[in-house]
Amino acid sequence: MDGGSLIMGVMQIPVTVVILAAGLGTRMKSRQAKVLHRAGGKTLIEHVVETALEVAPAERIFVVVGHQAGEVRGAVAAAGVGFIEQKEQKGTGHAVTTGRAALAGMAGYLLVLYGDSPLLRAETLKRLVTAEAEANAGCVLLTALMQDPTGYGRVVRGADGRVIRIVEQKAGTPEQLAIREANMGIYCFRSDLFWKHAEEMGANNLAGEYYLTDMAEILARAGYGVEALRIEDAREALGINNRIELAEADRLLRERKRREWMLAGVTLENPETVTIDGGARAGMDTVIGPFAQILGKTTIGENCRIGACSIVSDSEIGDGAEIGPFTIVNRSVVGRGATIGPFARLRMQNHVGEGAQVGNFVELKKTRLGAGAKANHLAYLGDSQIGAKANIGAGTITCNYDGFEKHPTAIGAGAFIGSNSTLVAPVEIGEGAYTGAGSVITHRVPADALAVGRARQVVKEGWAKKRRELRHR
Ligand code: UD1
Ligand code: CA
Repeated sequence: MDGGSLIMGVMQIPVTVVILAAGLGTRMKSRQAKVLHRAGGKTLIEHVVETALEVAPAERIFVVVGHQAGEVRGAVAAAGVGFIEQKEQKGTGHAVTTGRAALAGMAGYLLVLYGDSPLLRAETLKRLVTAEAEANAGCVLLTALMQDPTGYGRVVRGADGRVIRIVEQKAGTPEQLAIREANMGIYCFRSDLFWKHAEEMGANNLAGEYYLTDMAEILARAGYGVEALRIEDAREALGINNRIELAEADRLLRERKRREWMLAGVTLENPETVTIDGGARAGMDTVIGPFAQILGKTTIGENCRIGACSIVSDSEIGDGAEIGPFTIVNRSVVGRGATIGPFARLRMQNHVGEGAQVGNFVELKKTRLGAGAKANHLAYLGDSQIGAKANIGAGTITCNYDGFEKHPTAIGAGAFIGSNSTLVAPVEIGEGAYTGAGSVITHRVPADALAVGRARQVVKEGWAKKRRELRHR
């Protein structure tokens, strides 16, 4: 089988994908290239490349870059796709023909996608390629009937219903602009025909650009069929041109993800308030509270509870763990059955062991908390290794920074750190040892010892009464 084959039933269709992403996107009013803006937790270009990878192997996917080419490449380079540099942006037609050297030799079909259409689904692309193969048309384009097609190219059909051309918004006559069938900017061409006729695209229009959409008329005139595949829901091909459309795409992608999770057995409370990134996963019977955000590459196990307004990003949460409300968990691992929060912060690179407890107003940074250990109230634990079942009293602070460098704290299994202990790192507290409440611990405490580092209490009988009497004389 050829590496570029797409299998649909018995049919094998070699597809080459070209994704246009060189434009700045003037209508975004941004210093950042349009395709680098984010929706659904990813850049627009990442969404399109991921969809393309479902219909063609990375060696047959090319992204046309121009504006901020380095950054756009950086956003998707890991996928292994190829790049075509369009130095000057002279239109969508010019963007494709810039890739002639890389693309023209590829047999089969040429699928053109725009980098600003992040909602497109792979199933739709497969239908488009199948339609092209079955009709053996010169081109099949994706279209939709829209309530308000303003901004989109309009699909002009002849008396026999066949597509004869696409007219851009800027160039349309009132009659053409009344057409509600819009061009979604997604095309499947017969590769050989595309390259044979590509040079016929001209730039004699109002914008002075080479319009890819002209290929419809060029191929139709040359006698090849130009077909339109209508999709039911135009929102799937929403092209992002401004920030209102960006917000709409974000909303739709989030909704899609929420439905996916709910259908997979995750309960979302007030689902419309929950934000879930594309790369996140969750197991059955997990419950996510209102306004929670599950971001990045987070993996949540089964039977977990994520409290209202919590933010969990790039983390791994074990089965049965509970993240209380208003809690932040970032780049950390939380073991099975552990409880975190409410109002806790796992800042980064923490590992909370099975069944451990991290309570309100506790901050962890680069800390490993052993199985069953507890830090239930008001503490800062940084650069620490804490053994199983240790108990960290309320108000404990690891002084891990001396103004120049960070230092580690080690607390053995079963140790009991008295409330308001100040542990001046580097310092080590042995297994089963105690520190007295309010102690400042600066030296190693051996296993099973008690360390008390505070001034001895002095009681002056009657002192307060005398003072009052002196003042009121
Ligand atoms: C385009 C279509 C329009 C369609 C709409 C669908 C043309 C001429 N018009 O209009 O019929 O209804 O998409 O969303 O194609 N790009 C380049 N190089 C260039 C110009 C553009 O790579 O020289 C890229 C852009 O970065 C963008 C994509 O092509 O990702 C589409 O360009 P855009 O300017 O957004 O086209 P529309 O005006 O939306
Ligand atoms: Ca667009």
